[in-house]
Amino acid sequence: MTATIIDGKAHALALRTRVAAHVATFREATGRAPGLAVVLVGEDPASAVYVRNKGKATLDAGMASFEHRLPVDTEAETLLALVAQLNADPAVDGILVQLPLPAHIDAQAVLLAIDPDKDVDGFHPVNAGRLAIGAEGFVPCTPLGCLILLKDIHPKLSGMEAVVVGRSNIVGKPMAQLLLQQSCTVTIVHSRTRDVAAHLRMADIVVAAVGIPRFIQGDWIKPGASVIDVGINRTDDGLVGDVDFAAASAVAGAITPVPGGVGPMTIACLIRNTYVSACRRERLEAML
Ligand code: GUN
Repeated sequence: MTATIIDGKAHALALRTRVAAHVATFREATGRAPGLAVVLVGEDPASAVYVRNKGKATLDAGMASFEHRLPVDTEAETLLALVAQLNADPAVDGILVQLPLPAHIDAQAVLLAIDPDKDVDGFHPVNAGRLAIGAEGFVPCTPLGCLILLKDIHPKLSGMEAVVVGRSNIVGKPMAQLLLQQSCTVTIVHSRTRDVAAHLRMADIVVAAVGIPRFIQGDWIKPGASVIDVGINRTDDGLVGDVDFAAASAVAGAITPVPGGVGPMTIACLIRNTYVSACRRERLEAML
């Protein structure tokens, strides 16, 4: 058996196109474009690429992009003052401070300073709390993208066994919350789990987000399972995921490739969240 390869690029393009159409309606109704502010501190090359792609996707969707680039030695106070200014700016519906920040800045303090109702990254503790209790807020873009891909394969996730590999605040924990909300039976496995393979062999759904190249072996996958690989690991053979793709795709029912799987969905979800934020702030119903 060979798995269906989940085309994240095509899903992302479809979502971005749908949001762009709704943005056009939003602009007619309000006379303004939804706005996303992206803040980059320093010149980390990977972050610079992400920020450029986010800015381009924002403009492609018909939204306003506000980019703020600050030098690597920026004081925390200066960054916090910028965040306060963006919180107060009515043209800004979404604020994203690109991570990682330079070591001398307390990233948690910066995330706490962002207005939770403009926190389109979903990293503010208020949004983490809202997700945990099922209240309206913002869900981090990567797990949201994973859920959209999974729902396309399994419109009804209820009752399925889901295993999330990794417990980060950005992916693993919010992913587990989303799957729980969909009435999956959710297990989170991590670096101290005694037998990761034993858990995975029972999983109908696997979401891998550990950051270890090809960590998950083909014979750990239950035949027919849906496998979502969040990993983006640079190795000597290029970009690889957290799953041994060649082996797993011979066993799984559906699997995301790396690259071209989850990655493009993350930016599409950022665009979606920004549109949703603009609608909430204008008291309009988001059409998604
Ligand atoms: N760095 C890598 N991915 C992300 C992301 O989704 N949001 C932010 N703010 N920083 C990141």
